[in-house]
Amino acid sequence: MNAQESLKAWFDLNKRDLPFRNKPSAYKIWVSEVMLQQTRVAAMLPLYNQFLLSFPDMETLSRASEEEVLEHWRGLGYYSRARNLHKACQIVTSRYNGRFPETLEEALEIPGVGPYTARAILSMAYGKKYAVLDGNVKRVISRIFTESDEKKWQSLADSFLNLDYPGDHNQAMMELGALVCLPKPICVKCPVQNSCKAYKENAIDKYPPSKLEKTKFELELHFYLVYKQGKLLLIQDSSRRFFKKLYTLPFLIEKAKLPAKEAKNYLNPSYMKEMLDTLPSELIPGTASHSITHHKIKIFCHKTSKDLPEDFLGGHSLYSKWIDKDRLEMEFPSSIAKKILKFLPGNGLFQE
Ligand code: ADE
Repeated sequence: MNAQESLKAWFDLNKRDLPFRNKPSAYKIWVSEVMLQQTRVAAMLPLYNQFLLSFPDMETLSRASEEEVLEHWRGLGYYSRARNLHKACQIVTSRYNGRFPETLEEALEIPGVGPYTARAILSMAYGKKYAVLDGNVKRVISRIFTESDEKKWQSLADSFLNLDYPGDHNQAMMELGALVCLPKPICVKCPVQNSCKAYKENAIDKYPPSKLEKTKFELELHFYLVYKQGKLLLIQDSSRRFFKKLYTLPFLIEKAKLPAKEAKNYLNPSYMKEMLDTLPSELIPGTASHSITHHKIKIFCHKTSKDLPEDFLGGHSLYSKWIDKDRLEMEFPSSIAKKILKFLPGNGLFQE
């Protein structure tokens, strides 16, 4: 048996029985791949099954309202992925009559579908000969070929593909990375041990080369609870650095530890600073922290006078709305909003 055959035999014996592995449609694979980008298999499965019960095919999802879709995404976080998936399904429904396209070029033109997702869907749903490269596969490939240069991994993964079973091969590579070829690998269990250069050279710990921990930018986001007749103010402004498309509580970036050339990307809109600085407000004790790609964020919350002058927003051409505080998470769907909930009246930190 060559390496590809050993891997396939190992996968057939050891694979987890997952619902998106049973003669799946492109749509089901798509949903599973988007969910798996952010959540482990065990945690996503119940939500995945429920999601497919409610939205069994692309047409159904396309016709659903964004609110319904987000409701089903609750618990997964990263709501922008749900919004992108929803919009992308609408595009595939109208552009391709609801059938996910079969070429890589077309698949990559769908918003939110990157090289990994496109290759995963095309290989698993249609048996197209594309190798995937996710975090786990990168580790496996780097070791098999003792290759340190990240730019070479995709073509090595392509060269290692099992052309008879591209979809199973891709899943087997991911499964191998998840179960055997771990950061601390269990080489005795490995079906491709004989083909692994790093193993033969006793150099497993040199591959993949460890990245210097990428330094994260540090930010303080100060959110403001601005009330009018018991309702909370939300604002949307696409010129902001974060939450361009979302309505959010108004906020200021107060402190940012950034490389100097980045500072201009983190300025507060001047109207916002003017508005919030002149408003009597009080810091609610406590903080929350949040990490996103390249950013380490400390969250603070301020309460402001409950009733605002009528002309508070006067002169500022903003998208704004006033919402019931119980609707904060639905109206401002993001993991950060979840963390802000504890600052709201009645939720612990807030004192009237
Ligand atoms: N990670 C993402 N999709 C996967 C799949 N289909 N099999 C194994 N791991 C995965």
